[in-house]
Amino acid sequence: MFAKLLGETTFGIDGVVVTVEVDINNGLPKFEVVGLPTTAVKEARERVKSAISNSGYVFPMNNLVINLAPADLKKEGSTLDLAMAVGVLVANGQEISQADVLDKIFIGELSLDGGIRKVSGVLPMVMEAKKQGYREIFIPVDNAAEGKLISGIDVYAVRTLSELVAHLSATYPLQPLPKENILSNIERAYSVDFADVKGQPVARRALEIAAAGGHSILMVGSPGCGKTMLARRLVTIMPPMTEAEALEVTKIYSVSGELGDKGLMVERPFRSPHHSTSSNALLGGGTIPRPGEVTLSHNGVLFLDELPEFERSTLEMLRQPLEDGEVNISRVKAQMCFPSKFLLVAAQNPCPCGYLGDPVHQCSCKPKDIENYHHKISGPLLDRIDMQINLVRVEFNELQNKAPGESSADIRKRVIAARNIQLQRLTGTGFYCNAQMGRREVEKFCELDETAAKMLEKYFGALHLSARSHDRVLKVARTIADLDKSTNIQAKHIAEAIQLRTNISA
Ligand SMILES: Nc1ncnc2c1ncn2[C@@H]1O[C@H](COP(=O)(O)OP(=O)(O)OP(=O)(O)O)[C@@H](O)[C@H]1O
Ligand SMILES: [Mg+2]
Repeated sequence: MFAKLLGETTFGIDGVVVTVEVDINNGLPKFEVVGLPTTAVKEARERVKSAISNSGYVFPMNNLVINLAPADLKKEGSTLDLAMAVGVLVANGQEISQADVLDKIFIGELSLDGGIRKVSGVLPMVMEAKKQGYREIFIPVDNAAEGKLISGIDVYAVRTLSELVAHLSATYPLQPLPKENILSNIERAYSVDFADVKGQPVARRALEIAAAGGHSILMVGSPGCGKTMLARRLVTIMPPMTEAEALEVTKIYSVSGELGDKGLMVERPFRSPHHSTSSNALLGGGTIPRPGEVTLSHNGVLFLDELPEFERSTLEMLRQPLEDGEVNISRVKAQMCFPSKFLLVAAQNPCPCGYLGDPVHQCSCKPKDIENYHHKISGPLLDRIDMQINLVRVEFNELQNKAPGESSADIRKRVIAARNIQLQRLTGTGFYCNAQMGRREVEKFCELDETAAKMLEKYFGALHLSARSHDRVLKVARTIADLDKSTNIQAKHIAEAIQLRTNISA
């Protein structure tokens, strides 16, 4: 007796449809799973056996073989449990037949009593099923929030194996999940606000530009001048994610098992890994690579506080994701490419003691120590950071000023207006903001008027800017022009972009 049906697993951040073949033949009682299963998949045997018996069905006491195809793909996790159990019931001729499961996909982990448990990666699996043209998919009830997001495919949330069998045999049919309009009615509430920040006009302006165009930024300043405070407020002025951006982020969090109770990631991620973090945790890793911090901050903010305290080799690995917006990881067992279009915010002191250049405190560092401190961050890495600004200490009278600074809500209005201009301009390119533009888009969209071109030429030579800096200055200038609602990039926009890029060395 033979059955064939479909399950799904994940590879990287994508779903992969797996064909589950079940054969029951007259031999010695045995239960085998073949087709490159990992230990977790092999362990499914015990769960399938108990779930079937405890749901009131008969587990066949014959030779049982389950084959998972494609055989060259390493199958991980417990998502295939449900498909295997349903396959055993079909092959054993119990209540459901091959016709009842045709072209349907089953996802879920089984508990020993026949319940269906929540699994990671449901969103990318449903997306893949839809992409391949399947019409029906069954997922654990606790993953329903993710299932509601995708229209164009009937998603059923099931509680137990017996509930699923009752539906398939048409005894108690279930209704597919209603679809949700995912980004409507989102209330944004933050515990912090830009209104709390006193002074620091340059940093405020730079962060507004960063949020509007997605540009990376390095803040350098003495201890307690507000670097960490400002960086933590960046998400409060970021524009809301588009539906496509939200789905990209949710897919990553779904696979990483970090979605929690949320169906959809509606807020841009803000990740601030500690400086002791390993390169695997930052970039992604493992025998079968998993997304790291750079991918978990895709479409959001990656905040690296105390930048020089990170391992130099770890920081160097940021070069590829910063340049390409994706990260390639090769391991013996698999090669993966994860998206990583994040906004990098970095903060550091100007020297180990923190007071180099401070008008009040004397710096107590030896020249060698300062040199070593700066040596931690390489030229190529700095070259990839669009804006590099110096923060000065806040004066007493500024701190005493009771009037609140401009609120996040007001700044966000300007940011959203500038981002909408970009979204419209970049329609069809697959990019969402100026920072993501490639060479071709820069050439097409960053045209300068005559005085602006002359100004760029002058500074390009004087400041020995690299070709990369050239493009990055243009992209920042484009964002400044967008904030200014100007179709052309003017000389003042170029001047500000250059000033923000070279603040440290100037
Ligand atoms: N511009 C500011 N306006 C209002 N409060 C400020 C400002 N700057 C600093 N503070 C106060 O000082 C505290 C410390 O600031 P913050 O942690 O941001 O400093 P930092 O620049 O990150 O210092 P370090 O270099 O030591 O990490 C803040 O929590 C806030 O209470
Ligand atoms: Mg700090």
